[in-house]
Amino acid sequence: MPDYAKIVSEFGTPLYLFDINVLSDRIAYLNSKFSDNTALVYAVKANSFIPKEIENDVARFEICSKGEFDICNSLGINRNKMVISGVYKDRPSIEEMISKYSDVLKYTVESLNQYELLKEMANRYNRTLHLLIRLTSGNQFGVNKEEFRQIIKEHPVNIIIDGIEYFSGTQKYSLKKIAREIGNLYEFVTEVEQETGFSLGEIEYGPGAPVFYFKDESFDEEEYLSELNAQLSVFKDKKVYIELGRSIAAGCGTYFTSVVDMKTNKNGNFVILDGGINHLVYYGQTMAMRIPYFDLYPDRKGDEETYTLYGSLCTVNDIIVKSINVRKLMLGDIFAFKNVGAYSVTEGISLFLSRDLPKVVLYNRNKSATMVRDFTKTSNINYPNY
Ligand SMILES: Cc1ncc(COP(=O)(O)O)c(C=O)c1O
Repeated sequence: MPDYAKIVSEFGTPLYLFDINVLSDRIAYLNSKFSDNTALVYAVKANSFIPKEIENDVARFEICSKGEFDICNSLGINRNKMVISGVYKDRPSIEEMISKYSDVLKYTVESLNQYELLKEMANRYNRTLHLLIRLTSGNQFGVNKEEFRQIIKEHPVNIIIDGIEYFSGTQKYSLKKIAREIGNLYEFVTEVEQETGFSLGEIEYGPGAPVFYFKDESFDEEEYLSELNAQLSVFKDKKVYIELGRSIAAGCGTYFTSVVDMKTNKNGNFVILDGGINHLVYYGQTMAMRIPYFDLYPDRKGDEETYTLYGSLCTVNDIIVKSINVRKLMLGDIFAFKNVGAYSVTEGISLFLSRDLPKVVLYNRNKSATMVRDFTKTSNINYPNY
């Protein structure tokens, strides 16, 4: 385990620490829970700082924007492992990828317009593309069943339909809902195959596997994964790809933030931290009432007090946790919030108030800590460049 005190004193706060050992163990654990025909796809949106570290542990990377592509490409990720996905595939980006990188083979199709664009680019640059057609769950993503069939029936020789993609939402803990979803997917795949005589070889499915962030929750993950695997066994003759972001990455991340001010008034004890909700996203947090897993440094004995933890934004909503009992705090004490490896670093409202972005440190396989992003000014980004 990393020496947190040492890392924080070396790098300062606010700071994200992503522990690659924890991440690798997590992926090995997940891989061990699925059948041999099943492989993991990492959704880069969850955390774009870790793809290179897990390149050999996952089968593919789900990339949803040109920005995510540029990150993975600059990291030297094998382009054969990329699945170019996303609800908006803009023409210049798709043209650049198809014209420049003949080894970026696989794209998802989220609409008939996207399909036309991909066909046009495949023809223009004389490429063969491998497509996964995303079936909608009724929202803005993916194509409907009729459009799906239409694509299967009409695709030209330089368009290879590898299979189907389906993702309906994140943090889904209801096994009943997942069973229904996989059942419906199986029914649709079978129907399309019988109707068209075409075989959909790959099922890329995002279950939205949940992460339990709060102390008031309990969850039997073994049972969840075993049931998920059992449900997926209907696809035993196909290659199944499980698309995951949160469940892969959350556990590797710790966010360190320091107590920078304290005050008391008739409403209680107020603690101001140097971070805030701009850096920390706990899915399912409601009005800061739920207590995420955290540690407090340094380890000091003493009577407990009740505090509410605030960030440094100018909004009354910037509350990390309400009314927690911890030992008496002092300026400079450090909270280490757990399970922040997914989405906090990518989804936080980090431009608000033009505060600097936290540092990012990777604790790597050789047990050394490497800074991969320094404190970064957002005042340059929020600046009107006349
Ligand atoms: C298409 C798709 N796949 C996978 C994911 C990852 O979801 P999760 O982090 O819940 O595993 C997302 C998240 O938005 C997504 O849109």
